[in-house]
Amino acid sequence: MSLEQLLAWMPPGSPDETLARQVNFDRLPAHVAIIMDGNGRWAAQRHLPRVEGHRAGIDSVRDVVETSARLGIGVLTLYAFSVENWKRPLSEVNTLMMLLKRYLRLELATIHGNNIRFQVIGRQDELSPDVRDELEAGIRRTANNTGMLFNIALNYGGRAEIVDAAKRVLAAGLSPDDLDERRFGEFLYTAGQPDPDLLIRTSGEMRVSNFLLWQIAYSGPTSGAGTSSKRCWPTRSAIGATGGSRRRRWSWDVSVPLVPT
Ligand code: FPP
Repeated sequence: MSLEQLLAWMPPGSPDETLARQVNFDRLPAHVAIIMDGNGRWAAQRHLPRVEGHRAGIDSVRDVVETSARLGIGVLTLYAFSVENWKRPLSEVNTLMMLLKRYLRLELATIHGNNIRFQVIGRQDELSPDVRDELEAGIRRTANNTGMLFNIALNYGGRAEIVDAAKRVLAAGLSPDDLDERRFGEFLYTAGQPDPDLLIRTSGEMRVSNFLLWQIAYSGPTSGAGTSSKRCWPTRSAIGATGGSRRRRWSWDVSVPLVPT
């Protein structure tokens, strides 16, 4: 996308326009991965039940998916539900699954209309059949799209992914001499995708939380390519607060949003 195309989509003179003008379209990240954190705290700050934070977080999901696609990001991966999240109260787990299904039902046409290809990473076979049906419908409908790849990490764990990949390597009968890092990567859920250049976690936390452990080898905070926003995920423009540095190889020239404020 060019700046002109992006501006055509924004109200003239708006803060969105100011931010859009800061995007360096020649240096956009190929893959942005986001740990959407702080839903519970966002709700607590407003004296609301935790699930209201998740509900409000859906609006940020919608914003970030559509804006990333319009910017021309190649791959966007959102951490929606980890293998550890099953330990949360059943009512919260059920609400998260319900929100996910509703999001897909309501947004699939827009996702498809934006030429976005939808995919799930994680252990789908452990999800309930109604959730799986919704996911499969989304994957099927968008399978031939050629724009941004949108991964939802669902029942996802980085260690689980590496174990699953190792099992597939063994099942494929590879000999030790055939295996190197590139070949192993072909057995991960993200086979064929570029590694994230940019890892964002909202709410001010800097932990990796078992997310894309293999893939973020060169994009974690210690390499200087990771970044964090202090705002909670449901805050509109949570990502807009994220800073980037000119020295980093991935990216945007200045503090540039995925979600314009
Ligand atoms: C972390 O906040 C967030 C989650 C565990 C779930 C994120 C899910 C959504 C935004 C909705 C579904 C997603 C999609 C892609 C449709 P937290 O509850 O850990 O917050 P806290 O640390 O403040 O308690």
